[in-house]
Amino acid sequence: KDSVVYEAEKGFIAEGVTETTHAGFSGESYVNLDNSKSSYLKIAVWNSEAGKRNLKVTYANGGKNARPISVSVNDTVQIESLDLDVTGEWTDWKSKEFSLTLPAGKSIVTFKSLTDEGAPNIDKVEF
Ligand code: GCU
Ligand code: CA
Repeated sequence: KDSVVYEAEKGFIAEGVTETTHAGFSGESYVNLDNSKSSYLKIAVWNSEAGKRNLKVTYANGGKNARPISVSVNDTVQIESLDLDVTGEWTDWKSKEFSLTLPAGKSIVTFKSLTDEGAPNIDKVEF
């Protein structure tokens, strides 16, 4: 099955902005969440058949430290801490795979910052 691209900038941003400063992103922009533990991004995804799915997030972390995030499905945390390592520059975009158990139909996936540095810049999610 072909993977579907969910652009981060189409999601719901709590404490953050869409940004185009750092080149190499897909779509219209990427999401720069505030450097705070309370920032998060919600993306609605569609899954045809309930089960475990492999997903991929594309991000850039030009900071000095890894910026872990938690990942929730419909408000239940499924990944306590997904390590998003430094990528080098803010223009260096990398993909990280992870898996989630998704019900059939629409789910809201939440990516939440876990440290005071916030999350990396997030470009898109695919699966
Ligand atoms: C810089 C960079 C932003 C990034 C931020 C951060 O300001 O331009 O794109 O989000 O650092 O540290 O999170
Ligand atoms: Ca930021």
